[in-house]
Amino acid sequence: MKVSVIKETLPGERRVGLVPESIKKLVKAGLSVTVEAGAGTSARFLDADYTAVGAEIAADAKAALSKADFVCKVQPPSDAETKLLPNGARLLCSLVPQRHTDALKRLAAQRVTTFSTDWIPRTTKAQSMDTLSSMANIAGYKAVIIAANELPRYFPMFMTAAGTVFAAKVFVIGAGVAGLQAIATGRRLGATVEATDTRPEVREQIESLAGRWVGVETQESATTEGGYARELSADFYRKQGELIANRCAENDVVITTALIGGYKAPRLITADMVKNMKPGSVIVDLAAEAGGNCELTKPGETAEAHGVTICAPLNLPSSMPYHASLLWSRNLTSFMLEFWKDNELKISRDDEIIAGCMLTENGEVVNERAKQVLTESGS
Ligand code: NAI
Repeated sequence: MKVSVIKETLPGERRVGLVPESIKKLVKAGLSVTVEAGAGTSARFLDADYTAVGAEIAADAKAALSKADFVCKVQPPSDAETKLLPNGARLLCSLVPQRHTDALKRLAAQRVTTFSTDWIPRTTKAQSMDTLSSMANIAGYKAVIIAANELPRYFPMFMTAAGTVFAAKVFVIGAGVAGLQAIATGRRLGATVEATDTRPEVREQIESLAGRWVGVETQESATTEGGYARELSADFYRKQGELIANRCAENDVVITTALIGGYKAPRLITADMVKNMKPGSVIVDLAAEAGGNCELTKPGETAEAHGVTICAPLNLPSSMPYHASLLWSRNLTSFMLEFWKDNELKISRDDEIIAGCMLTENGEVVNERAKQVLTESGS
């Protein structure tokens, strides 16, 4: 089987689908790998590193894809890239179908079999393939670094000859993978950290990282079968709004990570709440890509409102491209090797991983959830 990697073309994207470490494993398992020249350069993986592990270098994307059986990417392919994919080829990338219905339809029309990493079920078996977790970890870490950089004060407490400086206070909204990493990183930098989430079971996880749990006690079930957050009642959100307003006013840094699947992020911080924050406070809105958790968020920008700095970075994992690519590549390799048996790729829709993440095959959208996404988007 011929595996191909091309250079990512989305502006600002510095990651690459596969890194040399993984290619070594794939070649050992009997696969051949072709990499477009310069595909890994922005992530600091050079062509020579790829050839050293047995990959072939192709001059451009067209040459890299011309005989591809299996294509490893980060972002959904552009229109031009899709046209270069051979009919019947398989593609593994993060499609986020809710935001890329056009790409989904194009891939079906090109008769490509598409697997979207963000729809791989979050089960124990599939943990090593979970790009969402790998990237959320980076985003949570980077959010704290950004906040520390923007904050006009120290994070740790210091006893200096000029007197004591008190530790910064950090409030994390949403304690999933990114939020938990933000708590851990904030604590490592010496801040005091508190966090909230609609899913009550995360209280223990917050406390295990030496964070303080703050939240609304509720009898409502806040978690879906897959472990994700679900929508709650208006009464819950009213109480949660009061709590968030209060905690935003008390803390120096607010990191928001609240998401509901790939859909529009819930608005949790209103303009009034920002107005009541201390001047010099910093909000880092990690939900910016899904519209943002803060009413004043401008996705992709750093804005100032009422003396508060509101950072809304997009594609944070790409700002740490070496490790982001390394982990991404390990996730994709784990997926391929799971189904690589007796020198062939054995894909069955009876497998729960394939059933969850295979979106297109033989010219059609084959995944029920993806069909629903197309219907909802009016496509
Ligand atoms: P996510 O990125 O979809 O959401 C981030 C967090 O925001 C979640 O903790 C969610 O509960 C919270 N949230 C949503 N709406 C909120 C609101 N209105 N107010 C406050 N918080 C809100 O979730 P992520 O981080 O991708 O994963 C969430 C959970 O999924 C994990 O904590 C874990 O339980 C499960 N998971 C399981 C895995 C496995 O078993 N292989 C792997 C990764 C995650």
